[in-house]
Amino acid sequence: MTVRSFEPSDAEACFRIRSEAFIRKYGDRLGAEGVAALVNSYMPSDFVRMSETMRWFVAEEGGVPVGFCTIRFLDETAAELLFLYVRLDRHGRRIGTDLLRHGEDWLRRHRPEVNDFVLDTVHPDYNQGFYEKMGFEVRGRRRIDRHDARLPAVHMGKSLR
Ligand SMILES: CC(C)(COP(=O)(O)OP(=O)(O)OC[C@H]1O[C@@H](n2cnc3c(N)ncnc32)[C@H](O)[C@@H]1OP(=O)(O)O)[C@@H](O)C(=O)NCCC(=O)NCCS
Repeated sequence: MTVRSFEPSDAEACFRIRSEAFIRKYGDRLGAEGVAALVNSYMPSDFVRMSETMRWFVAEEGGVPVGFCTIRFLDETAAELLFLYVRLDRHGRRIGTDLLRHGEDWLRRHRPEVNDFVLDTVHPDYNQGFYEKMGFEVRGRRRIDRHDARLPAVHMGKSLR
């Protein structure tokens, strides 16, 4: 498995990986309308457009994308983990860890002024434990704008120094 920068040709595979998580992992709790709203909220062409201002990394096995993560720059000293998704049949193989570490190392090398790394998770019961293992701490609860809705989320963060 290798981690590399996103290319426009990865957009469809990333779209499928993200969609599959909503359909098969969170489908029961989101319901059909929720899944449809989340799947449709970003099309592959949106990923390509977003990759111009955000930092995207793709994990690849045998030339096939199996996960991706996206870092959005908030201000001079803060960045956000906007997306982190691993293909369902590849969970538990350290791909999420490697993607996150790769992103953090990139920030330390290329954006040393960024110290604060944050995220909001709307599925804390499922993935908060993973982020805690990666060194993030809960900083509070808030509602975030996602896909035309205000969703309850757990806000987490860590220092990169
Ligand atoms: C959350 C996610 C990125 C983790 O990726 P992964 O490659 O399966 O995780 P890793 O194999 O790197 O796991 C690293 C450690 O975290 C633990 N871990 C993984 N997923 C976990 C979870 N959901 N809850 C608690 N611990 C978890 C692993 O057991 C492992 O622990 P260890 O170091 O003691 O062995 C992946 O499950 C995923 O894509 N989920 C669906 C999409 C999603 O929810 N993304 C976040 C969007 S808000």
